[in-house]
Amino acid sequence: MAKKTVRKQVGPDTEWFVEARFGMFIHWGLYALGGRHEWMMHREKVPPDVYEQRYLARFNPDLYDPREWARLAREAGMKYFVITTKHHEGFCLFDSRHTDYKAPNTPAGRDLIAPMVEAFRAEGLRVGFYYSLIDWHHPDFPIDKMHPLREDQAAREREKGRDVRKYADYLHKQVRELLTNYGRIDIMWFDFSYPGPDGKGRDDWQSEKLIEMVRRLQPGIIVDNRLDLPGEPDFVTPEQFIPPRWPTDEEGRRQVWEACHTFSGSWGYHRDEASWKSVKQCIWLLIDCVSKGGNLLMNVGPTARGQFDDRARERLAGYAAWMKQHGRSIYGCTAAPDGLAAPEGTKLTWNPASRRMYVHLLTYPFRNLHLPTFEGRVQYAQFLNDASELKFTDADAEKKTPPMIELPPAAPRVEVPVIELFMKA
Ligand code: GLC
Repeated sequence: MAKKTVRKQVGPDTEWFVEARFGMFIHWGLYALGGRHEWMMHREKVPPDVYEQRYLARFNPDLYDPREWARLAREAGMKYFVITTKHHEGFCLFDSRHTDYKAPNTPAGRDLIAPMVEAFRAEGLRVGFYYSLIDWHHPDFPIDKMHPLREDQAAREREKGRDVRKYADYLHKQVRELLTNYGRIDIMWFDFSYPGPDGKGRDDWQSEKLIEMVRRLQPGIIVDNRLDLPGEPDFVTPEQFIPPRWPTDEEGRRQVWEACHTFSGSWGYHRDEASWKSVKQCIWLLIDCVSKGGNLLMNVGPTARGQFDDRARERLAGYAAWMKQHGRSIYGCTAAPDGLAAPEGTKLTWNPASRRMYVHLLTYPFRNLHLPTFEGRVQYAQFLNDASELKFTDADAEKKTPPMIELPPAAPRVEVPVIELFMKA
């Protein structure tokens, strides 16, 4: 186990989370049928009744095999997963007593969350629930600037009596179900607040009461930062970007953080999107996060028949091949100590427990890799993929040469080669 390197703990213990570094996000709902973004209801301004009518009775994931999903996640090197129990569209993958808008009332005919949780746990992954605070289907959710009916003045007028307190009651009851009926839950991922005119925030969700209940029902659970609450969250969630450096709180303390990203642009299954990242980019994203002390939550949007499509599988297989040999530069690793700078074209990660430094080569340097800030620090060097020795020469004042590693002319045949440095105590 890695030592606690991160910072003063403010909430529950996040040590396992920081150690794990890599998780799978899953966005699955009725929008998989549309196959054109999980925000389609909003974008196309589809009234809730029309949306329900079009999709509810057609959601038939006949190829759904959560054990396969879990296996693919584990093989990719992921240590936890976060599933959308309900997204903004309001449809629930779980069997809630408080709504009919749920998987048991589709041709699936059952709770789809329970077998997923079981399958991922069986593969050794921790469990996270995403729950959308926003709900475009619920009749008590006041129409606001984000709602599909936002421009329908007649609907706004007709529905102006909607009481957000009733909706908050529903939200709280559903979260109670999720945190009561599925055993130990490790992460609660709420999404999201947009306080201000025609928006919603902590008073609408009753966030303080909500988080109290969450912590009471699942002591030890870690909760994201999207409830619009003051104070330090358990972790922060940069979305679709990588922070330029390790994020800090107002007092300058380093925060626990997790970036979430998609393989292409959409979170839900998108048939026609052409913006898929390459395997190398996907791997680089993970390295980049860890090199700044963060986690990566990488998203898959399964199809409406319940499968990860071939493009997602290809990328997961790319992770699997790379992680099998290079997991050591990811798990339990964090940013390099101050003063040790990454050579040009590389990223560093550092395992404080084993005292090993990992140099990830985005470009493959010719012959010599210079490490000017590493003088007197390195004991031994090798490639991580095959543990083959690399010649390290320390700085030489007479010859005026910096510390350097001699590399073979041909790069290892892996997506991103990594050098493992055994550092002196
Ligand atoms: C955004 C989007 C949403 C997605 C989420 C993931 O807030 O509303 O579709 O689930 O990001 O972080």
